[in-house]
Amino acid sequence: MATERTFSILKPDATRRNLTGKINAVFEEKGLRIVAQKRIQMTQQMAETFYGVHKERPFFKDLVSFMTSGPVVVQVLEGEDAVAKNREIMGATNPANAAEGTIRKLFAESIEANSVHGSDSPENAAIEIAYFFAGNEIVG
Ligand code: TYD
Repeated sequence: MATERTFSILKPDATRRNLTGKINAVFEEKGLRIVAQKRIQMTQQMAETFYGVHKERPFFKDLVSFMTSGPVVVQVLEGEDAVAKNREIMGATNPANAAEGTIRKLFAESIEANSVHGSDSPENAAIEIAYFFAGNEIVG
């Protein structure tokens, strides 16, 4: 397994409840390094582009509205097998199905307000990282 980078978002339900430190502690304890991070307000256009793959799904409009409802923290996480590892650390999309100890089991409020996003493949990680960060903002 090689060192890899993945893209992560701490969603508005997490920033609203002041959980950024607690969630970052989980990443760090499990061996992922935060090599870039910034707090931003997503615009409607950014959220629609970011979740474009879901634009025909019934939850799309609500999802865009939720993702723009408050600040988010966008991050690049680095570590061995970081994409798959972060998906494991996050847990299932629906917190009702998330395993014990995962971020979504610990913190998520609902399938929509599920606290974190993590890339689902190394290819998407590269696209998502490039969408939010300039190369010189990532310091490994
Ligand atoms: P998805 O890519 O399926 O999940 P994941 O975030 O685990 O990769 O869905 C993207 C987001 O869309 C998900 O985190 C929350 C939202 N969503 C809903 O609001 N309702 C739903 O039924 C699904 C499947 C997702």
